Amino acid sequence: MLCVEQKQFQELSISAKRAIFWALVLGFICYSALIYTTGTEYQAGEEAFSGSAQRGKLVFQKYNCISCHQIYGLGGYMGPDLTNVMEEEAKGRNYAEVFIQHGTAKMPRFEMTETERDELLNYLEYVGKAGSYPVTDFKVTWYGNIHSETAENEKQ
Ligand code: HEC
Repeated sequence: MLCVEQKQFQELSISAKRAIFWALVLGFICYSALIYTTGTEYQAGEEAFSGSAQRGKLVFQKYNCISCHQIYGLGGYMGPDLTNVMEEEAKGRNYAEVFIQHGTAKMPRFEMTETERDELLNYLEYVGKAGSYPVTDFKVTWYGNIHSETAENEKQ
């Protein structure tokens, strides 16, 4: 992108060429260091991934909720996405529990133990803290990293 004709470049002194070379190498090193060390440390919702939530993930798999529901937009499309069901204003823990316990015309009721249901809800709580769907709130920084604005706000 430098507007230097090839001939002009050839006429540059060897030390000027070296300076350009080392400036590019230095730029590459600084850019690589920045990319590999920033934006990699934040694990959203990690503290919510307790033992109980981890068992809840197995419950989620055991009853195959993903066949009808999505998490982070992935899964079956018969029921709604469950990523943020636990923190949506009009929904929440009790709301989700009622669906699991009693089902609806389209969703089966699940004969699970109270412990399983609790673990399952803890897992869904973790899922909500770890991300959001649809993803609408990210921005790309000038150096090429993607930052979630929600995650940034939660950090403060
Ligand atoms: C056979 C498909 C099916 C399966 C399997 C299923 N669901 Fe559902 N679920 C639905 C449908 C469809 C709805 C929407 C309610 C309706 O239309 O009756 C729903 C609604 C829900 C809701 C309310 C969501 C909202 O945003 O209003 C929650 C929470 C939920 N399901 C949790 C679960 C969990 C947890 C499991 C696994 C244990 C599960 N579902 C398994 C079909 C299913």
